[in-house]
Amino acid sequence: MWVLLKGGHVIDPAQGIDKAADVLIRDGRIAEIGKIDVQSLNSDPGEVYDIAGKVVTPGLIDVHVHLREPGEEHKETIATGAAAAAAGGFTSILAMPNTKTAPDNRAVVEYVLSQGKRTPINVLACCAMTKGMEGKEMAELGDMFDAGAVAVSDDGYPVQNALVMRRVMEYASMLGIPALVHCEDKLLSADGIMNEGITSTIVGLRGIPAAAEVSMVERNIMLGELTGCHVHIQHVSCAGSVDAMRRAKARGLKVTCETCPQYFTLTDEALVDYDTNTKVNPPLRTSADVEAVKAGLADGTIDIIATDHAPHSAEDKEVEMTIASFGMVGLETALPLVITKLVNEGTLTLSQAIEKLTIAPAKLLGLNAGTLTEGAPADITILDPGAEVIVDSSSFKSMGRNTPFNGWKLKGAVAATIVGGTFAYGQLSPVGEKCEVLSR
Ligand code: DOR
Ligand code: ZN
Repeated sequence: MWVLLKGGHVIDPAQGIDKAADVLIRDGRIAEIGKIDVQSLNSDPGEVYDIAGKVVTPGLIDVHVHLREPGEEHKETIATGAAAAAAGGFTSILAMPNTKTAPDNRAVVEYVLSQGKRTPINVLACCAMTKGMEGKEMAELGDMFDAGAVAVSDDGYPVQNALVMRRVMEYASMLGIPALVHCEDKLLSADGIMNEGITSTIVGLRGIPAAAEVSMVERNIMLGELTGCHVHIQHVSCAGSVDAMRRAKARGLKVTCETCPQYFTLTDEALVDYDTNTKVNPPLRTSADVEAVKAGLADGTIDIIATDHAPHSAEDKEVEMTIASFGMVGLETALPLVITKLVNEGTLTLSQAIEKLTIAPAKLLGLNAGTLTEGAPADITILDPGAEVIVDSSSFKSMGRNTPFNGWKLKGAVAATIVGGTFAYGQLSPVGEKCEVLSR
């Protein structure tokens, strides 16, 4: 059984490919990229899709997704989160551990992975650093690694105790998995709601200084150096963190980092309307921070673009700013925001943007993914970078409606998402006709 994607433009940063080419899939794997004659394949049964005008990339990988299962299935389930991911062009996602209960033991890791297997995409598990994510006692990392966890994180409940973090990093280093760190000094961020600055003073909401993030970025970089652990800084939001990362990389340390679309698209001025969908942690910062994040993306200091997809229910968001939950959904808006705000505005080429969404996250997690190399699993995203998208949160596959981007007109649509050679999202028209999305 084969599938031929004919007439598209292939971008595979891992192989330095950025050219018009056909892609042949055989038995769920990439068989060939180049000019492929249909006649040569006709002896076996197969399908041909005409994708002229579309861009073919390795399937997108998101290393920062909140799926809320087990425990808060009214916000999102592994199934709905995976459907949202597929609609957003993601073929692999890493589930964050701040669920209730948390994957701080083998059984919960196994549960997440087994529910993930029932979805059309690859759901990977990230285990908690500490028991109950309380930051006090290290969880059974070895056991959870054995059960299939590919990373460890304190996302949402940052480990404050440096000695506990040191021990976690020592174990993660021994297991060969990265420590994904949420950098926040809770004493400094206190009960803050938004970035501390002129805007927080004007709107009258308690501020979170950038130093609450930067001081922990510096601490975690130091602990990574001390332990030999691969430290990956999550959701970089401000200039100070970009600067710390740039210096750490210049020193040759084993560090990587990610940012998310909200941090290169919005500033803290988005909070002047008191829209709780703009309340995220870390908070939206100033325009100088946005520029620093973009500069970090452009010069390679920021390796990865992740979403921090954080679905919440209306009950958690349609309340006063002070008590609303932190977070916004991101899986179904990430790609159009990347194309509109980074590629079309000149910060990154499309190939550089795809690199940060494919091979860079694959390398972080040690996955056999993120590239269209011959023999690799056929995880593929087909994009229409020029197509207009009007964000409509009511049509999201995610159960979360909490986005500040509702109604935004963006460029860059996902035409289809293919996982292991099978369509996980979108349907293309048969050969000879112009490729169209038949269902969403
Ligand atoms: O905005 C956020 N939402 N930041 C976090 O660190 C956690 C996340 C969540 O779980 O909702
Ligand atoms: Zn998160």
